[in-house]
Amino acid sequence: ILDKYDDVSDFAARYLIKQLRAFGPGPNKFFTLGLPTGGTPLGMYRKLIEYYKAGKISFQYVRTFNMDEYVALPRDHPESYHSFMFNNFFRHIDIDPKNVHILDGNAEDLEKECQIYEEKIKEAGGIDLFFGGVGPDGHVAFNEPGSSLTSRTRLKTLAVETIEANARFFGNDISKVPTQALTVGVATIMDAREVVILINGSHKAFALHKAIEEGISHMWTLSAFQMHPKTMFIVDEDATMEL
Ligand code: GLP
Repeated sequence: ILDKYDDVSDFAARYLIKQLRAFGPGPNKFFTLGLPTGGTPLGMYRKLIEYYKAGKISFQYVRTFNMDEYVALPRDHPESYHSFMFNNFFRHIDIDPKNVHILDGNAEDLEKECQIYEEKIKEAGGIDLFFGGVGPDGHVAFNEPGSSLTSRTRLKTLAVETIEANARFFGNDISKVPTQALTVGVATIMDAREVVILINGSHKAFALHKAIEEGISHMWTLSAFQMHPKTMFIVDEDATMEL
């Protein structure tokens, strides 16, 4: 528990630097990172860019897998998760775009796209560290309430709460928010060797309470991480209001 959002962002960025150094990546040993979108990780991305510019971290031997992507939103739409990741992070660091993996929500065969994604993660040797956030309804990635806790990468229809929460990125116009997404499953994230969840703000307080102080439930998919051997939640004071 840290004071403010800024502290959460900085702690998360410094934690990645520490884990990356301990791993010692190189040409034959890539570090595989799982990454989220949303408002929450923006601060961490900003800090990482600062640390990169200060020479404290390099992404040369890092490969990334993003959590999710909207379906049928053009890749170059400003709110696609492709655009989000390149504009807010990848464009500003030394990662080779060929090491970046983001689900293609415009693939002809969406089911196949999800299968291939799972295979690519496997080929990469699994994910070393998966960063995530949480929706106010407790969803992780786009694993909406009711998602199987054994789910893998697949197509999901978004919950009304998620569409409402994400309308702020689409000029507050609910009708413009995509209604479906491709997302890694709960089990895909659970397979990561380490998971770090960032949570800030009082609007996430109930989700945090449900995730860590009650039983594991597919209605609050973040609660699955009670079963993960190495998960850390980095939260600000406001998010702890219901604990
Ligand atoms: C979306 C993303 C999630 C993210 C959530 C919360 O639904 N698919 O990965 O955790 O939003 O977003 P924010 O950080 O903007 O509150």
